[in-house]
Amino acid sequence: MLIAANWKLYKTQAETRTFCAEFQPPGGVDVVVCPPFTSLAAAVEGGLTVFAQNVHWADEGAFTGEISVPMLKELGVAGSLVGHSERRQLFGETDEGTARRAEHALAASLRVIACVGETEQEREAGETEAVLARQVAPLPRHPDLVIAYEPVWAIGTGKTATPEIAQEAHAYIKSLIDAPVLYGGSVKPDNAAELLSQPAVDGALVGGASLDPDSFGAICRAAAP
Ligand code: 13P
Repeated sequence: MLIAANWKLYKTQAETRTFCAEFQPPGGVDVVVCPPFTSLAAAVEGGLTVFAQNVHWADEGAFTGEISVPMLKELGVAGSLVGHSERRQLFGETDEGTARRAEHALAASLRVIACVGETEQEREAGETEAVLARQVAPLPRHPDLVIAYEPVWAIGTGKTATPEIAQEAHAYIKSLIDAPVLYGGSVKPDNAAELLSQPAVDGALVGGASLDPDSFGAICRAAAP
């Protein structure tokens, strides 16, 4: 099981150090945290396995605001998210750009969690499978690629997908690509065990509930063997 914390635009370096001092990952679970870029080094120094929240497809160049694979590797970062729905919806990132980011990072031995998921409107229009197929199609096939299924309507809303909805979407994604699939969207200590017990759910990508070491610890323990 892989349990990943996506801190989004939260936690300064000092706050990251406090988290690291209080958080103790349980044995038998692959636990990673994804801090903002400025807190990556503090999280690595705190002894955690650390992923970035995004990574560019070029090693260097005129790409204002981006971060590269060599920059991350120098800090001891082990992987990156790509294609989070907030990147897609708020910052105009595309399926093709997401795939290029994933491909370049994987080729340089970073692990990658590529995020996919439909909006509420797309689900209501019966387009969930078409959206997932479109998002998964350009992604590289690679042993270090993990998919995160994050239905946009469940992110930060407290509206978690039911275990049945998660299972159905994960099984569909697994019919498209041979990769572990994490569930993301309002995962909390009180719903984690049930979601993680679904056969096609291989872990979780946790936003809000990962900011507190106690609640993130409880979610990690729900994944422990
Ligand atoms: P929440 O857990 O806050 O709903 O966020 C999910 C998410 O976007 C993780 O990447």
